[in-house]
This record gives sequence, C-alpha cells and structure tokens, in this order.
Amino acid sequence: MSAHLSRLRVRDLRTYVAADVVLGPGLTVVAGPNGAGKTNLLEAAYLACTGRSFRAASDADLVRRGAEAGNVAAEVATPAGPSVFSVGLEPGGQRTRRLRVDGNPVDSLLDHPARPRMSVFLPDRMVLVKGGPALRRSHLDQLLAVLRPGAAPLRRSFHEALRQRNALLSSLRARGADVAAAARELGPWDRTVAEAAAALTAARAGTTQAINPAVQARAEELGLSGVLEIAYRPRSSADPDEVLAALQERHGGDLERGFTHHGPHRDDLAVRRDGRLITRFGSQGEQRMALLALLLGETDVIEDATGQRPVLLLDDVMSELDAERRARLVALIRGRGQALVTVTEAAHVPGAEDPDVGRIDVVPGAAESVRVAAGGD
Ligand SMILES: Nc1ncnc2c1ncn2[C@@H]1O[C@H](COP(=O)(O)OP(=O)(O)OP(=O)(O)O)[C@@H](O)[C@H]1O
Ligand SMILES: [Mg+2]
Repeated sequence: MSAHLSRLRVRDLRTYVAADVVLGPGLTVVAGPNGAGKTNLLEAAYLACTGRSFRAASDADLVRRGAEAGNVAAEVATPAGPSVFSVGLEPGGQRTRRLRVDGNPVDSLLDHPARPRMSVFLPDRMVLVKGGPALRRSHLDQLLAVLRPGAAPLRRSFHEALRQRNALLSSLRARGADVAAAARELGPWDRTVAEAAAALTAARAGTTQAINPAVQARAEELGLSGVLEIAYRPRSSADPDEVLAALQERHGGDLERGFTHHGPHRDDLAVRRDGRLITRFGSQGEQRMALLALLLGETDVIEDATGQRPVLLLDDVMSELDAERRARLVALIRGRGQALVTVTEAAHVPGAEDPDVGRIDVVPGAAESVRVAAGGD
C-alpha cells in the first residue's frame, strides 16, 4: 500500500473558512463551478504534504482574506500507520510557516519518510512542454534525485564548479588576460567542471532512458497517435576527457563572454511525437496528452523505484480532452492509487457515480462546511 491522504482539514486558507474532507485511497472527483475553490483544495493538500504551494504564492496570498492565520492538516495513511502533516501560516507573525509531523515541529516535511509524494498536473504545467529548457532541466534533475537519491548531489556539484569557473573567467576578462594566461589559470577548473558535467550528463541520460518506455505506454493508452519520445538533448559529452577537450578548445570564446558556454547547463529535453517536436506539430489536446503521459509515466517509474506511488493531483485535466480520451484517462488512473481530479462538471469523469469513486462538491460561498466523504477502493 502506498501512502495516501485519508483526511484533509483546512482552516482560513484561500476561499476556505473551514473545510473537513474525508478521502478514499482511489479516485476522487472534485467538482464545482469556476472560482468555487477546487484548485484551492488541491493546493491545500499539496501544501500540507510539502510545506509549499504548487503555484507561486506568498503566505499572505494563501491565508484567507480577512483572516490573520490559516492552517491545513492532512491525515496520511501509510503502511507504517497513520501520520498527520500540518502547516500553519501567519503572514504577520514572526515565523511564517509552521511545519509539523504528528504535532512535532520539523524544519522540512520533504525528508519525512511517511510523506506521500505528489505528482501534480496543473494547466500551468504545460510550460514544461511549451516553455524554455531550464524548466525541463530542473524537472529532469528532480526526477533523477527521486529515482537515484545517490545522484542527487550531481547537479549541485556541477553548478558549484561552474560558478567558480565563471567567476574566474569574469575576473580574467576584467583583467584583460590573454588566452594563454587564461588557459593556465583555468586548468584546474576545466578538469573539475568536466568531471562534474560528464557525471551529470550520464545521469540525465540514464533517467531519460528509464522513463521513456512508461511514458510511451501511457501516451498510447491515452490515445495519442504516433510514438511519443522524451529525447535528451545534451550539450556536452558524458565522457570527462571529451568535455575537458571541448572546454579547452573554447577558452577564447569563454574569455570573450566571461562565462562558460559549453556544458549541461544548456541541456534540453525534446518532447517528440514520431520524431517531430510536439509543440510545433501537435494540437492543444495532443500537447496536453503528451504532458499527461510524461507525468503518469514518471509516476509509474517512481512507484517501481521507490515502492511508493505518488498521489496524483490533476487540476482541470479534462478540458481539451474529448470524451474518448477522458474515458481513457480515467481508466488509466482508476485502481492505481490515490488521485484527486478537479472538473467543472462531474459528468466529465466517466464513472464518477460509481461507488468506488469519491466525490467532493465544492459549493461557492458554502465552503465553511465542505464535509464530504469519498469512496473506498
Ligand atoms: N487568500 C484568499 N482569500 C480569499 N479568497 C481567495 C484567496 N485566494 C484566492 N481566492 C479566491 O479563490 C477563488 C479561486 O479559487 P480556485 O482557483 O480554487 O477556483 P476553481 O474552483 O479552481 O475554479 P476554476 O474552475 O475556474 O479553475 C477566486 O475567486 C479567488 O478570488
Ligand atoms: Mg481551478
């Protein structure tokens, strides 16, 4: 059994004065009109289990307008027994976020072994497909850290080495150093950067390879035609000697610019369908399916690697999907752990009336007493 949220209690956050929601271990449909507070409920669940919002939000944004403090507590059922994760916010107070596990203050919720992982689909997350490479790199590195905790420091080591090399380049440039002088001073940093770069590149390649079969399978099941591929586009080699040679060749250019322009800080991932970029040759719905396939495929790989299935928070996922794709998506997530899915019309979730599917109706203005039990598995 993977950890799942069994109950969520929200006080004075966003639209909620007080909400108390019992959650089943399977699929729960969160339904209500625009602005009712559906995304706010998912955000509260995420906040309780991570100590953070899933959208850029200050504590003052999160606390209900007119209230001075707010809090959320999630009861979590884990194989080792129940736990309670809670977050208290008091924007005007001294310490803003008060994080607790089972009533005991903690510095971070993220490292707690009972914490359920969460995989979040928000319409905003389309930037992962459509936006710039930095988001994809950091997404890939987060995944790497989950799948191979031992490799988590690789990103930091590389960026630290890069920072030092760039500082030196900038100072060499300011001093008007020539290439020969620069080469002498850069020598030790070239080697350090090359080794860290090659290790990070190899780890990123391995992670991309590890997720592709699951991502492809989920894409097919969702009804995305063609073969979806998450292609790693490294900017430098996974062989330290080759990176070293490449850095040495570029001393002149680096000196001119004052920074390192070769290495994994410029990597990207390409989301392709039948070899073509989905952002250039895919419809809105197809791009959405590609992102869903990526997130769902990763969830499966994380479950295989850690034995714990992340809780899925799927916000507004049904819009832009046709009836057949909606049914396919529901078939994919039902019976596979906990998923909270927001929709404006419950009818957008085929099977929403089935007894094993939980249901929360978020009624605008009546959020004081949302108290809806959700189905079992
Ligand atoms: N701190 C706050 N205090 C009170 N209300 C807030 C606060 N922050 C956001 N809101 C209100 O929450 C509402 C939006 O809630 P939410 O985003 O959860 O709606 P939703 O049900 O997801 O709607 P949609 O279907 O349009 O996505 C807005 O009306 C907004 O004004
Ligand atoms: Mg919403």
